[in-house]
Amino acid sequence: MEMLKIDIKNAISFLKQNEFDQYKELTKNADLALKNRTGKGNDFLGWYDLPEKISKNEISKINNCANDLRIKSEVIIVIGIGGSYLGAKAVIEALSGQFGILKHKLGNPFILFAGQNLSEDYLFELKEFLNDKKYSLVVISKSGTTTEPAVAFRILKKELENRVGKKEASERIVAITDASKGALRSMANQEGYKSFIIDNDIGGRYSVLSPVGLLPIACAGFNIDQLLNGAKGLMQNSNNSDFNTNPVYTYAAIRHALYKQNKTTEILANFDPRLNFIAEWWKQLYGESEGKENKGIFPASVSFTSDLHSMGQYIQEGLRNIFETVISVEKPKYNLTVPIDSDNFDKLNFLAGKHLDYINKMAELGTMLAHVDGGVPNIKISIPEITEFYLGQLIYFFEKACAISGYLLGINPFDQPGVEEYKRNMFALLEKPGFEEETKKINERLK
Ligand code: PA5
Repeated sequence: MEMLKIDIKNAISFLKQNEFDQYKELTKNADLALKNRTGKGNDFLGWYDLPEKISKNEISKINNCANDLRIKSEVIIVIGIGGSYLGAKAVIEALSGQFGILKHKLGNPFILFAGQNLSEDYLFELKEFLNDKKYSLVVISKSGTTTEPAVAFRILKKELENRVGKKEASERIVAITDASKGALRSMANQEGYKSFIIDNDIGGRYSVLSPVGLLPIACAGFNIDQLLNGAKGLMQNSNNSDFNTNPVYTYAAIRHALYKQNKTTEILANFDPRLNFIAEWWKQLYGESEGKENKGIFPASVSFTSDLHSMGQYIQEGLRNIFETVISVEKPKYNLTVPIDSDNFDKLNFLAGKHLDYINKMAELGTMLAHVDGGVPNIKISIPEITEFYLGQLIYFFEKACAISGYLLGINPFDQPGVEEYKRNMFALLEKPGFEEETKKINERLK
């Protein structure tokens, strides 16, 4: 099987000579700190060898549970936020056809998501959509107490219980949460829901290769063994400490070297909309891991060629603090060529017989050359095709590079102290019991 490739020649050309050499040692040392568990946040390294560590028994339990839900559901709702939904959504969207929602049926359910926002209209519309459907719920929360998924679960669980009765509902609900802590664990134990455990040492944004991502992906009908095999392959490949042949070291090093040149925004670009949610997952992984202590590269994303007609202008000629990382897919899944047209009103006959993917590739090459000429360094990450196996590689590649990047930056890539701030204000405004002091203060401030 082929391996993901990285090409940095159009990024390294922006650095001074020898500036890159120091990273041979730095990346190796950062990786050693991960391996030996001596770096910051070393109690959150459960993801590091997860593709090898996850047992056959756990995988078959996940597959059996998914098959059971698939048989009884036209739609499966995955309830979670942040790391508890982005990875699953990213993989499912990458592997599903664009129009999958129109094909849902019993035995081949469509996966929808809830609990990732607090929009009244979103949940109302979801409830309306589910009105005449057979559905099941997979509720995911490591802490078991996050407000957004807890509210969505309360509403959807009640709805399901009203529809099919408490007993049948409990057989259509699966919980993924901590082994012993949190409200969701207590509820699962009391109601007898089938459940899976999120290990203590795996943080949300590093959890896609645990039951958090694997169960929803299997529910969508995709091959989680292949996903894990791809991740395992990349894991073994990235254990190689030779800087020149280790794609993970190369990516971590080049983005840090560019950051040192004040390239403080990284734009992840794709040329296939199926990868749009991979970018959302990547933004959480890098944003939440690196953005702390007033440091870190701001992760942004674009989908080309659509966004060449919106963000293209800025990338070409705006503030020069950006670099671009393109995920390039070598082969499409299907074949489609441009037909010949005898009238040729649109003057497109020069493209007749050409594959859409060939035209797309020329757009990709042309864009890269233009942006590099405009002063935007370019990193290219290539995978042969969008399959479970190569998505597994891509996921593990980004996870490990993110951890090494965090260590190069000198921060703890595994915590997220900053996300608590908005919650405190929201609870104070909502007058949550226990927040009386904060409520008083915030009301004063808003006078
Ligand atoms: O990466 C993270 O840790 C976060 O994004 C969490 O996944 C997110 O806040 C959801 O938390 P929980 O799974 O506890 O509901």
